[in-house]
Amino acid sequence: MNEILYSMIHKRRSFRKFLDEKLTVEKCMEVISGFDGDLGTFKVVERSSTSCPIGDVCLLYYGDKSNPMDLVDAGYKLENLDLYLQANAIGVCWYGFGRTKERSYEGKDFIIMLTLGYLDKTKLRKSDDEFTRNPASSIWEGEFNQTVINDVRLTPSACNSQPWKVISEGNAIRVYRTDGNKSIMVGRFKEYFNSIDIGIFLAFLEISLNANNYTFSKEMYGNCGLIAKYFIKNV
Ligand SMILES: Cc1cc2nc3c(=O)[nH]c(=O)nc-3n(C[C@H](O)[C@H](O)[C@H](O)COP(=O)(O)O)c2cc1C
Repeated sequence: MNEILYSMIHKRRSFRKFLDEKLTVEKCMEVISGFDGDLGTFKVVERSSTSCPIGDVCLLYYGDKSNPMDLVDAGYKLENLDLYLQANAIGVCWYGFGRTKERSYEGKDFIIMLTLGYLDKTKLRKSDDEFTRNPASSIWEGEFNQTVINDVRLTPSACNSQPWKVISEGNAIRVYRTDGNKSIMVGRFKEYFNSIDIGIFLAFLEISLNANNYTFSKEMYGNCGLIAKYFIKNV
């Protein structure tokens, strides 16, 4: 599974245009059933039942809104799914502005949606130059494998704000949440999406570490400041 996800890190994009062939809820669920891992609580609905203006179907993700770590977890789980779906010809756009009337499901709160439709394979990215991202030197401090640093630099985020910073030293990698680039997001809204973003970053980091044959353990701290500390066992 990690190999499939890793293969999409340099190719994925936010799809906002999809092929004419309609992706159905059933087909989407069939593809998702091939995902090997914990995806938490979600449901797939017709896009028309949400406020989202693009895509065929929307994946609504649920958790405990009052627990900030559930936002980090949403980012982590759904980014794995983003990469998996794009590897399976389904285009994805995280849609933070999307609203649904289905505010709760199985006792949990609506957190965020992804909008989905069939993708045009020729529109997948072919080069890192196609990504608009901060330079590696501004997000990673300390010596580490340059491939991993280049991989995590490509992590997507709400409004491309990239609210992260890594400090590595010896066998320790510390991931911090920062204010990120200036965007239209402010206050609680920004806090909300940046927490999801940092979970997305951890997903990219772990997929890259695995693909580059590092074994590691992880300690989680919270959703602001120091987020996570990784101990690399074979550095
Ligand atoms: C948590 C989150 C929420 C997002 N919400 C929206 C959104 O509401 N509308 C939209 O068009 N794009 C949205 N995006 C997509 C980002 O704008 C996009 O990931 C970022 O600009 C980087 O571009 P890329 O994904 O093509 O690499 C969101 C992304 C994330 C991670």
